[in-house]
Amino acid sequence: MKAVTLITSCRRNGNSKKIVDRLTIGIEDAGGSNEILFLDDYNIHCCTGCGKCKQGGGCVLNDDLNEILDKIRASDYFIFSAPIYFGDLAGQSKMFLDRMGSAGSDPELEMKEKKTAIVLTHFSDTINDFVIENTHRGIVTANFKVNKIIDVGGLLGKQFTEDELEGYEDIGYELEDYEIIPHKLDLINNTVDDSL
Ligand SMILES: Cc1cc2nc3c(=O)[nH]c(=O)nc-3n(C[C@H](O)[C@H](O)[C@H](O)COP(=O)(O)O)c2cc1C
Repeated sequence: MKAVTLITSCRRNGNSKKIVDRLTIGIEDAGGSNEILFLDDYNIHCCTGCGKCKQGGGCVLNDDLNEILDKIRASDYFIFSAPIYFGDLAGQSKMFLDRMGSAGSDPELEMKEKKTAIVLTHFSDTINDFVIENTHRGIVTANFKVNKIIDVGGLLGKQFTEDELEGYEDIGYELEDYEIIPHKLDLINNTVDDSL
């Protein structure tokens, strides 16, 4: 499996990177590879909502998002990693997802059926279900199928134990094999359907 990970935290050696490094070890142990990208290395503008992508041909902004999309398109698996800031997805992470909407509405981008994992990290023990589901929604809008959500909280002043880190290696090893997770957000009312 050829995976591509986008770390949207601007901290190069933060919690996200520590987790992703161990997922990578697991992916490699299973015979695959994982290319790690930092969003901060790319110059990406915010979506202007022009709607041109819905007519095909991609996004009119024609910025570095294309480089990221090319890499994702050439991969078998996408890992989206984001930190939680002020109780929500960090702004830069959300901006990337807003732009990814163009990938979902453009048939030429062929993102269909690509499996994806979401990695979220935060200080608090838990975050609002809506944040997880709304991130899931952003990924699904881009036509990806989420099959693993790695939600890691309780990180204030925390050092990962070796057992925990090895747990991420195990997840990386099995990443392709997880079942697709149903999307639970009611898009009209913005409520989370817990029956799914
Ligand atoms: C500006 C900012 C705001 C944050 N807000 C929250 C928050 O509201 N809730 C929370 O649990 N953690 C919050 N955090 C902590 C980060 O979510 C946490 O450190 C996360 O693991 C960062 O990921 P990284 O180490 O990969 O950069 C915040 C951190 C920063 C820098």
